[in-house]
Amino acid sequence: MSKRILITGATGYIGSHTIVELVNAGYDVVGVDNFFNSTPRVLDGIKKILGRKIDFVEADCADLRDFEKVFRKYGNIEGVIHFAAYKAVGESVKKPLDYYRNNLNGLLNVVNLMSSSARAANIVFSSSCTVYGQPSAENLPITEEAPIQPATSPYGKTKQMSEEILKDCVYALSNLKVSVLRYFNPIGAHPSSLIGELPNGVPQNLIPFITQTAAGIRNCLSVFGNDYNTPDGSCIRDYIYVVDLAKAHVKALDRLAVTDERIDYFNLGTGKGVSVLELVHEFMKATGVNLNYKVVGRREGDVEQVWADPSKANRVLGWKADTPLDVVLESAWKWQQAIMKK
Ligand code: UD1
Repeated sequence: MSKRILITGATGYIGSHTIVELVNAGYDVVGVDNFFNSTPRVLDGIKKILGRKIDFVEADCADLRDFEKVFRKYGNIEGVIHFAAYKAVGESVKKPLDYYRNNLNGLLNVVNLMSSSARAANIVFSSSCTVYGQPSAENLPITEEAPIQPATSPYGKTKQMSEEILKDCVYALSNLKVSVLRYFNPIGAHPSSLIGELPNGVPQNLIPFITQTAAGIRNCLSVFGNDYNTPDGSCIRDYIYVVDLAKAHVKALDRLAVTDERIDYFNLGTGKGVSVLELVHEFMKATGVNLNYKVVGRREGDVEQVWADPSKANRVLGWKADTPLDVVLESAWKWQQAIMKK
């Protein structure tokens, strides 16, 4: 019998792509979301890709009473991938309580319900490279051993605290095993253009702002700073294709089922740093669309440069992010065009 995996944040950007990969790999999934930052239409996209509906419950995992109903309905949950969380860095500075309440309660409820109801409680947790802050030059590319630095935003702090909570729980609860996945910058959309990133209002992240500018929804992309200590002066990130990232979750779950390691950490990136200006030019080259952009001042709280050393994930998970950047950028552009037709 296939293993049932609970996916919180199922209709979110990374959650939806991961569900597709899990089902294709033979996992039986049940999705949970409260649609705070997504829409039920994502379920239609998943259904079209897979050719069938997935099990889904509308619930808020930060609300124990509400979330419990999922466990009452589905008794045989063997593992959880916990995506559900707020993720806007800037907003978290303005609304810290919302972030602590939602992101920490969600995780506490997941661990609580899993550890009391499951035979083997395997949890894959969505963390972020934000836990490393600005790594010093000698720590780039960044490995899992690099020091965790004090986060500058409540969002970042919730990721650090969540990792600490999981470490303490693994120590205390003998049936718990955890895989902490530290994502770099996920971009792009499923090749079918049936699911992708759906930002609410004005996008805060780079790629949705680029595709909306290319589509004429925004007048001009602001490049936040060209006076950083990088070759072209703009910030450097490790942009990873969301479908490659989704596949890493399948590998992480497979591994939890067989490993004796109680908690393990993986950097999920390509291993290549790309600057904002390089990305802008790559986008224009890959799509043939001209992009109106201007350099403006730095964005407060931005890290100058960070990219992954993914060799541990390559080796231990047998996984690699290898989709070429032009293919990824084309997928983001195709997705933008598809949502405008809807
Ligand atoms: C940050 C966090 C990441 C978190 C994500 C959630 C770090 C290193 N990363 O990603 O962990 O999951 O937020 O949203 O803290 N940019 C522009 N113009 C724009 C938008 C962005 O120039 O209109 C630049 C930014 O300055 C940055 C790069 O593009 O250098 C990527 O920005 P963004 O997509 O917002 O992601 P991060 O800030 O890297």
